[in-house]
Amino acid sequence: MRCVVANWKMNLASEEARSFCEDLLAHFTPSAGTEVGIAPPFTLLHLVSGLMRPKGIMVFGQNGHAEAKGAFTGEVSMPQLRDAGCSGVILGHSERRQFFGETDAALAKKIKAAWQWDLLPLLCIGETLDQRDAGQTLQVLGQQLSILAETGPGPLWVAYEPVWAIGTGRRAEAEQVREAHAFIRAELNRHFAGSEYQVPILYGGSVTPESFPELLGIPEVAGGLVGGASLDPKKFAQLVKQAS
Ligand code: PGA
Repeated sequence: MRCVVANWKMNLASEEARSFCEDLLAHFTPSAGTEVGIAPPFTLLHLVSGLMRPKGIMVFGQNGHAEAKGAFTGEVSMPQLRDAGCSGVILGHSERRQFFGETDAALAKKIKAAWQWDLLPLLCIGETLDQRDAGQTLQVLGQQLSILAETGPGPLWVAYEPVWAIGTGRRAEAEQVREAHAFIRAELNRHFAGSEYQVPILYGGSVTPESFPELLGIPEVAGGLVGGASLDPKKFAQLVKQAS
């Protein structure tokens, strides 16, 4: 299975989102074996899920709280994401880890909460440039995946996103991607041993239609989590076609 997910981050307002969806649908033909998702900001979830879910496109939250409800000003819960039309939720994006203090301990709880509300978690992991330069990449990835020992197996997608490649135009080299994805696969096999769950591993970080075909040729790269290039419906449609 191939997967392509648009991460809009904190971009677009309702009219732009509506015209993105119309434009994408004009260039998009669903294909068996390719899952397409969009992760809009919370305010656009209802609009985007209303337009996209009937066409078989998944909608993801960009984050979700572990508690179902309560006094958590500014947060959105998993049942609220479901209510807004989501079938999945991005968890542990490096921007959440870096700017909002997201911890591995919190992420373990969020994954369990997502499962409880029937949402597919898309867990993001990746090393910083300092960590890569210090030769710690695989150690960092192993640490970030160690929360799966606590959650146990379940439906999951993982995105390998080297922090230094996000929004920088500097994509990881094929060999770096190959090594990281092979390691992630081995860790997933260990954590999910004997379970029925097949976890696709996406690559993220400056994915464009120019770089995506090469990435898709790397073993264990099941697709992409796309930021910048996903704001242009024609480029995003092209990425979906390349994956199909
Ligand atoms: P980018 O973002 O494609 O703009 O590098 C990817 C991401 O943050 O998920």
